[in-house]
Amino acid sequence: MSELPKLPKVYAAISMPLEGMNRLRKLCQVTVHEGNQDPTRQEFLDGARGMDALIVCPKTMTVDKELLDTAGSQLKVIVTHSVGLDHIDIDLCKERGVKVGHTPDVLTTATAEQGVALLMATARRIQECIRAVKDGVWGTVWDNAMWLAGKEIAGSVIGIVGLGRIGLAIAKRLAAFDVSKILYTGRNLRPESADPIGAEFVTFDQLLEQSDFVVVACSVNDSNKGLFDEAAFKKMKNTAILVNISRGVVVDQDALYNALKSGEIGAAGLDVTTPEPLPTSSPLLTLPNCLVTPHIATCTVTTRNAMCELIVDNILAGLEGRSLKTPAFLY
Ligand code: NDP
Ligand code: DGY
Repeated sequence: MSELPKLPKVYAAISMPLEGMNRLRKLCQVTVHEGNQDPTRQEFLDGARGMDALIVCPKTMTVDKELLDTAGSQLKVIVTHSVGLDHIDIDLCKERGVKVGHTPDVLTTATAEQGVALLMATARRIQECIRAVKDGVWGTVWDNAMWLAGKEIAGSVIGIVGLGRIGLAIAKRLAAFDVSKILYTGRNLRPESADPIGAEFVTFDQLLEQSDFVVVACSVNDSNKGLFDEAAFKKMKNTAILVNISRGVVVDQDALYNALKSGEIGAAGLDVTTPEPLPTSSPLLTLPNCLVTPHIATCTVTTRNAMCELIVDNILAGLEGRSLKTPAFLY
């Protein structure tokens, strides 16, 4: 009797929507990390051992030499549940002939909407408003016309750090609020994105000095780790609001705490922090002018389903030796 062909083995370090996963399960032997907590490093390494394909995500799942060595030389493809690639040693994957896929574009809308939500929530002090209602201090509002007074988006200067797919999607949405100007900064001029919305390229310092809202939407690389440090916050307006949907490492959190506490800047809305999860003892969480969401910008039903479908497409392509649909690099 001839032996049945072996199904390729896939380890998914994150559980994903069932529909997409069931498509993968028909063609592969899939092991999924279950539960609400990310796998520990050891669980991640153990899960990867002997696999043909891996599904990873940025939070705690660093793809480095140790992981690739542990997985073994049969590993063909890694797909990350993210557009960001900062947790993956791309050069090493290239060197080892391991294909890497990611999920650009399908998550741009959801992430941009979260960026706008954070901006509006911090501008209108929603966190403080909710607390005031729950604590029963509502009632003084008519005695003090400036109680919980917020900041208007109309007429403001918006500064986008990183006018990529997501930065542009945020800028387009904010343009509808009748802002006075949109500025952007980055390593390169991006006229194809900037010109249609009238965005103006400036230096990082000019953006800090002029913006009422600074939105961080860049990818992370060696040029921008710790970019928002004490000196950067000093250059910002005292009323400025910082929104970060990029990665926590772009911001020096101690410097941010000091800037928010001392009134160097007005407020901050963060979807990303260092570390993640942010410990509940973080001083940032004691501040009324700091709003933190749990790295959830892509988490809409539509987007998470689309990400899962794209991940499955990429995994199957990688296992079958085809080009990935959304490769992180070209061969
Ligand atoms: P893109 O590649 O389209 O855009 C990245 C942008 O970052 C480019 O415009 C690039 O411009 C800019 N950039 C890189 N370095 C710098 C720098 N030093 N200063 C200013 N700008 C810089 O990526 P996306 O827009 O699709 O995604 C951006 C990032 O958003 C992801 O890499 C990820 O980290 C984060 N993200 C977070 C999510 C969340 O859940 N919070 C969800 C999705 C994405 P240039 O090359 O000209 O410098
Ligand atoms: C991304 O796509 O980079 C996000 O951070 C994933 O959640």
